[in-house]
Amino acid sequence: MTNRKIIVVTGATGAQGGGLARAILDDPDGDFAVRAITRDPGSDKARELASHGAEVVAADVDDPASLDKAMAGAWGAYCVTFFWAHFSPERELAEAGNLAQAARTAGLEHVIWSTLEDTRQWVPLSDDRMPTLMDRYKVPHFDAKGEANHLFTDHGVPTTFLLTAFYWDNLIHFGMGPKPGPDGKLAFTLPMGNARLPGIAAEDIGRCAYGVFKAGSEHIGKTVGIAGEHLTGTQMAGQLGTALGREVVYNAVTPAQYRAFGFPGAEDLGNMFQFKHDFETYFCGVRSLEVTRRLNPALQTFAQWLERNAQRIPLE
Ligand SMILES: NC(=O)c1ccc[n+]([C@@H]2O[C@H](COP(=O)([O-])OP(=O)(O)OC[C@H]3O[C@@H](n4cnc5c(N)ncnc54)[C@H](OP(=O)(O)O)[C@@H]3O)[C@@H](O)[C@H]2O)c1
Repeated sequence: MTNRKIIVVTGATGAQGGGLARAILDDPDGDFAVRAITRDPGSDKARELASHGAEVVAADVDDPASLDKAMAGAWGAYCVTFFWAHFSPERELAEAGNLAQAARTAGLEHVIWSTLEDTRQWVPLSDDRMPTLMDRYKVPHFDAKGEANHLFTDHGVPTTFLLTAFYWDNLIHFGMGPKPGPDGKLAFTLPMGNARLPGIAAEDIGRCAYGVFKAGSEHIGKTVGIAGEHLTGTQMAGQLGTALGREVVYNAVTPAQYRAFGFPGAEDLGNMFQFKHDFETYFCGVRSLEVTRRLNPALQTFAQWLERNAQRIPLE
């Protein structure tokens, strides 16, 4: 037990970090131990991790001193930031800087940075196919993560850059499931035209990260993209219909219509889907299903995820 390499897991009570924490805890004969970061070690989720053998430590990604303490003596870390908790790309950049600095101070041997594309490398601010948001972003929750990549490199942290994908769990938790249209039929709305959307069960992201750690230094300094499947809106609607036992139609709105939906983050997400649509070949290509399955042989398909989760999707 004491010889295990300690991996500090940010977001351990959430989707990505939770998947990694459970992957490590499910492999008691493996080389790694979990140090789960939470702002509240007394919460039910934190206690549950502790009851399964995780070391639970209080820290906040906005508090550099707490991160220094949490990373001391560890071997590696899974670093994720929480855009939707504050909607601020500047704050996300600062948080990534705090994580990179703490990893350097602790002398960690392998860090995974949960990142996404800086879409401005494909769509510069001068490109008016989509609006510029918050003065200097096209897709704020992507761009800040991609911009932060260099912070890990600049600090000399041995880092794997993990490009994640759309969680299918957004259909449950993010209001993106099918809703009844005026004709009473369930409609699954996405501004993706006929393009394929790389998606993944959120739980599988952490399980892929575990595969990256288990592979030793193979991926350090590299970018690894992951997805469970690349599916069109029509394919997703079809599989939703099968799982729910009622017809689901694909409602392919335009990105401009999606941006105008008005919910918090609608413009950011409208631009995000447009980026995925306009750069489909790149975006799917960098998220190889073969590489993902090698990292996580138990990777779920959308149909398998639906089998376990379809009844949890709110349909109103
Ligand atoms: N939804 C998608 O499809 C998708 C796809 C790719 C990437 N992403 C990205 O995923 C990121 C979020 O990851 P997630 O979905 O795993 O998060 P999550 O499920 O919302 O969990 C976040 C956890 O992190 C902790 N947390 C929140 N603020 C914190 C802070 N200041 N310091 C320390 N811990 C904090 C919370 O735990 P405690 O309350 O216990 O502290 C919470 O349980 C976002 O940045 C998003 O852009 C999302």
